[in-house]
Amino acid sequence: MHITDIIHKKRSGKVLSKEEIDFFINGYVDGSIPDYQVSALLMAIWFNGMNAQETTDLTLSMVASGDTVDLSGISGIKVDKHSTGGVADTTTLVAAPLVAACGGRVAKMSGRGLGHTGGTLDKLESIPGLSIEQPMDVFQKFVNTIGVSVIGQTGNLVPADKKLYALRDVTETVDNLSLIAASIMSKKIASGADAIVLDVKTGSGAFMKTVDDSIALAKAMVDIGNLAGRRTVALVTDMNQPLGNAVGNALEVQEAIEILQGGHPGDLRDVIFALSSWMLMVSDLAENEDEAMEKLEKSLSSGAALKVFSEMIKAQGGDPLVCEDTGRLAKAKNLISVKADKNGWITEMENAEIGLSAMLLGAGRQTKEDVIDPAVGLWMKKRLGDEVKAGDELAVFHVNDDKNLEEAVNRFKAAVKIGSSKAEEKKLIYKIVE
Ligand code: URA
Ligand code: CA
Repeated sequence: MHITDIIHKKRSGKVLSKEEIDFFINGYVDGSIPDYQVSALLMAIWFNGMNAQETTDLTLSMVASGDTVDLSGISGIKVDKHSTGGVADTTTLVAAPLVAACGGRVAKMSGRGLGHTGGTLDKLESIPGLSIEQPMDVFQKFVNTIGVSVIGQTGNLVPADKKLYALRDVTETVDNLSLIAASIMSKKIASGADAIVLDVKTGSGAFMKTVDDSIALAKAMVDIGNLAGRRTVALVTDMNQPLGNAVGNALEVQEAIEILQGGHPGDLRDVIFALSSWMLMVSDLAENEDEAMEKLEKSLSSGAALKVFSEMIKAQGGDPLVCEDTGRLAKAKNLISVKADKNGWITEMENAEIGLSAMLLGAGRQTKEDVIDPAVGLWMKKRLGDEVKAGDELAVFHVNDDKNLEEAVNRFKAAVKIGSSKAEEKKLIYKIVE
């Protein structure tokens, strides 16, 4: 087999066989096929796409490129949740303990995203003392006893994705449905969960900007998961504004704890409940959404979910008292109020730009080497559709270093558009793909 023939075939719009896909993945990982030929093939895939069978073959070939996690030491159905990435997505911090408090088994291995704000691991690490590095047997013991543990990826999971993602990033081939679906699902399948709930984001802060593209991505991922023998469900949810109020690491932990304490009704809480209810259903812990919602409400109002979160923090070496007093989390030196310049209605929030302003304050990484400041970020005071008067507070910036402050404020103000009439309201959940 020759890689040039495979490139030619895909360039001509033909369908690749499983053998050809395996040849390309194996050759790329072992170094026998160079970056420049894989770049050409990726671009041919970007233009001509892959059908459902090719996408599944690609995913399974990527899974086979490295180690897979064996979670058989955990009793019951192991459920995972994954979000395709957005701005200030605090859902896992609440959904994981909430589902565990209802009897779910949440064994979550997270990556450490590059981007606007930290990933779930960075958020958890803003809790004083907490370690996301736990040996596999200890991790499984935590899930068996507490119901939940969240740790960093261990082992050599899906090396094909690490190489391919880095190459896609510099060849403008990230935003292809098959490549995204295979990238995400290969990591989920290799991580060993029996059931997977996907939160596919749509809108200005997401990979997929239109609802139709997001639904197509959701369908592709659900098909791959089910073909690989994992019960998979996807919810397509809105990312046209930051979810909840907090954008930043310790701030999002504070928001998560306040939700677990019963506070913050609103979009973030609603998305968390929708995802959590599906996590219970695919775990056979609820027959339908009503039953799931009832269980979730109970574990929230009884304090059981907050207790689970505090036990998880304690087990992983963190300070569990943050669950009673969020004042124990890192605090920024300066609070700066950012105000509206004119009267009107908020018609648009360029979500990626809002994430960028948080990153400029130090809440995210521009390069892998950057160090996150857990204390900094934004606390949003307004939502899409809100009426504002000149001088009203749009957000409070939590700042430690003034270096990029002016740029952060300017970008934020440019990203929050104030118009003369109220815009149409966005849905929160667009579709559920089973
Ligand atoms: N997230 C991933 O892990 N991979 C992609 O390709 C896109 C988003
Ligand atoms: Ca948030």
